[in-house]
Amino acid sequence: MSIGNKVIDEGMQGEATILASDNSAANGKKLYLESYGCQMNFSDSEVVASIMSGEGYQTTRNIEEADVILINTCSIRENAETRVRNRLTDFKKKKEDNPDLVVGILGCMAERLKKSLLEEEKLVDLVAGPDAYRDLPNLVEEVGTGQKAVNVLLSRDETYADISPVRLDQGGISAFVTIMRGCDNMCSFCVVPFTRGRERSRDPQTIVQECRDLFEKGYREVTLLGQNVDSYRWNISSKGEIRDENLPTTNFAQLMEMVALVSPDLRVRFSTSHPKDMTDDVLEIMAKYENICPYIHLPVQSGHSDVLYRMNRGYSREWYLERIDAIKRIIPDCAISTDIITGFCGETEEEHQDTLSLMDIVQYDFAYMFKYSERPKTLAERKFEDDVPEEVKGRRLNEIIEKQLSHALLSNQRQIRTVQKVLIEGLSKRSEEHLCGRTGRNSMVVFPKSEYQKGQYVMVRIDDCTSATLLGEVVSKC
Ligand code: 5AD
Ligand code: SF4
Repeated sequence: MSIGNKVIDEGMQGEATILASDNSAANGKKLYLESYGCQMNFSDSEVVASIMSGEGYQTTRNIEEADVILINTCSIRENAETRVRNRLTDFKKKKEDNPDLVVGILGCMAERLKKSLLEEEKLVDLVAGPDAYRDLPNLVEEVGTGQKAVNVLLSRDETYADISPVRLDQGGISAFVTIMRGCDNMCSFCVVPFTRGRERSRDPQTIVQECRDLFEKGYREVTLLGQNVDSYRWNISSKGEIRDENLPTTNFAQLMEMVALVSPDLRVRFSTSHPKDMTDDVLEIMAKYENICPYIHLPVQSGHSDVLYRMNRGYSREWYLERIDAIKRIIPDCAISTDIITGFCGETEEEHQDTLSLMDIVQYDFAYMFKYSERPKTLAERKFEDDVPEEVKGRRLNEIIEKQLSHALLSNQRQIRTVQKVLIEGLSKRSEEHLCGRTGRNSMVVFPKSEYQKGQYVMVRIDDCTSATLLGEVVSKC
């Protein structure tokens, strides 16, 4: 469940994105890709499209003409998995009509469900985990020879650094750039460390090069992606030691600065920050560059220190609030969003009230709110009972959503009568006569089209708002 503007995180879980590019070096075979879950999956699908296009596969939006169907899956909550299963059942009918059709699953569901999906339910021909995408052409070939093809090996060093992703959003201006993979945090509710493996950072030179290429192709915004961007480190060990004295080291603040310097007209965003690791040097770099957007996604998960301890988050309520103070001190106009889980194991009414009180203190601009969903293998599944009744989880979630709606409206009302720099993303969904774009704070703004175009920056005076959108008029070009 997400309340805010852009779907920026696993708040998107469960919604499918159909991806296609027009690649001309084709072998006549068509690939249909569908992505579920987080931005990381979306970004991975672009790597998959690139690897498959190297074999001559052209991506298509029309499932009927596909020779290969790949679904990039998400495991973060049970309902995300259920949606994928339903989709696979639809594809099973297609396979009955066309026995040559190859259906495969990629991503987070691969490891856990490989046996049941391949052998027991026979829903797919191919299974590839998040670190096995280079092997996809071989796997597709194996299916062609009548075998069930599986590669779910997790790697300690795969970052796909050398692969130039095929951009699947056609003529876009905003792109995701993966800077690291995996996660070492072991939050007790989270399946990601099991599905995506150990944390590893990508060579900063390849990241900067990718951002430069994107800028040259007309993109005006990059979002640097990682499960925990604050622990990005290149040539630095997890203990903080330099690995190779002859090479430079890079931390996240330095990487962001390198990307910001690509061009003042390239907006830089990032996701996701971790409260235990977010340092002041990152905030100071954000304050220094106008093109690093003043927006931080800082998942709190719960407002009570005992729950945070059970969640193994590595910080307390007080620590989190101190980090919020640091953001407000160093970047006074920074927008802040969060993730909240309600009904985690053993959550009492008092603990829930503390989440609400923390929301009142922070007044988030956007939030992604979820009921706790027990995931296999996680610490919570092994150690705690999922004991908050479903109706209590639902009621608490509604209280949290209601509070967030009022804060989002207040946040938008505060923008009225200000003038905001907006990057135009395209036509408004509701009207051909209006354009839409985002402010640096990530608010969606709708305004009359006039002569302006996608990819331009304009200054917009905000005249009105809803809890999700700002409405205004262009006062000048940038
Ligand atoms: N149940 C509910 N929400 C979860 N998240 C992660 N794991 C679970 C789970 N088991 C949420 C967290 C995280 C976001 C990406 O998804 O809030 O920050
Ligand atoms: Fe999951 Fe925690 Fe890692 Fe985020 S930081 S991916 S919630 S284990």
